[in-house]
Amino acid sequence: FMIKRPLIIDCDPGTDDAQCIMMLNACGLFDIRGITPVHGNVPLEFTSKNALFLSKYYGINRPVYKGAEERLIVRLPRAEYVHGSNGLGGFEYDLNGLNFADGKAWDFLYGEAVKQKGQLELVAIGPLTNIAITIMKHPDFPKLIKKFVIMGGARTAGNATPLAEFNIYQDPHAAEIVFKAGFEDFTVVDLQCCMTAYLTKEEEEKLGATPKNNSLCGLMHQVVRHRQENLRKLKGTKYNDLAEQEGKKMVFCDAAAAAVMIDPTISKYQDYYMMCETRGDKTFGQTVIDRLGFAGTTNIHLALGVDRDRFRQLYFDCLKKYEV
Ligand code: BDR
Ligand code: CA
Repeated sequence: FMIKRPLIIDCDPGTDDAQCIMMLNACGLFDIRGITPVHGNVPLEFTSKNALFLSKYYGINRPVYKGAEERLIVRLPRAEYVHGSNGLGGFEYDLNGLNFADGKAWDFLYGEAVKQKGQLELVAIGPLTNIAITIMKHPDFPKLIKKFVIMGGARTAGNATPLAEFNIYQDPHAAEIVFKAGFEDFTVVDLQCCMTAYLTKEEEEKLGATPKNNSLCGLMHQVVRHRQENLRKLKGTKYNDLAEQEGKKMVFCDAAAAAVMIDPTISKYQDYYMMCETRGDKTFGQTVIDRLGFAGTTNIHLALGVDRDRFRQLYFDCLKKYEV
């Protein structure tokens, strides 16, 4: 008998968030205490409904506490072009009388952290607004968290701007609060790490043809179809080269965070002090890495990149758990 690790998933589903949650549930290591959706890829109205739906669809059936509707300070465009207007690539579902839990994400996050007496783990795969609000309300929150993993940031090129990664760019002020907050075991899975956790063209096709005996086949078909349609639309436009590049490897960014959470040995790490740029004109939302140690301390473990074959194995093993 193994005691499951208590975990909260803070997310903005999101087609790739959906993959991450799928894996965290399937691996069987975690006692998912609840899900705390935040604004991000699409507005909170959709990310929260998607979280509620996924909790049921995957058989997690744990409470979903709505979080922040807006960033702390900035207002920026969202990513409907990637995830579809409903955030799940247009996958349609019925909420069938499902209800949100009463209360706000940050109160649940703190309450659960206290209740778990230092054992709670946390994964955040959207903008960091919910986590920053929790910290501002309860500065002792970070010390109560056993292990914290985020998908966010970029050590080189960004995907929202030339230097900023989407999650961090959506709320850089929240990110800066989180980096400074004093989490003791804090792993950053950045964009460059995510890029190493890809599926090949053949594996993408396999996913798109997930057999009917898998209860997730509907969602998987739609997610792959939506991605392929998106890429097709970019053909012949000024984004042609980018689309061609993206077409070669399918990356579900947030799935890399799940892999690191499930099997930390899948990546190597380097400790750094990480900060977030909140004022720059071209650098707004960039994660800044103190490579030479000016800070005299470190605050994160940067996940350098995953073992691709082990990632593929883990991903499809997790998916298999949903066969009926
Ligand atoms: C991150 O941004 C979102 O589009 C994805 O869900 C992922 O969390 C990748 O930059
Ligand atoms: Ca996300």
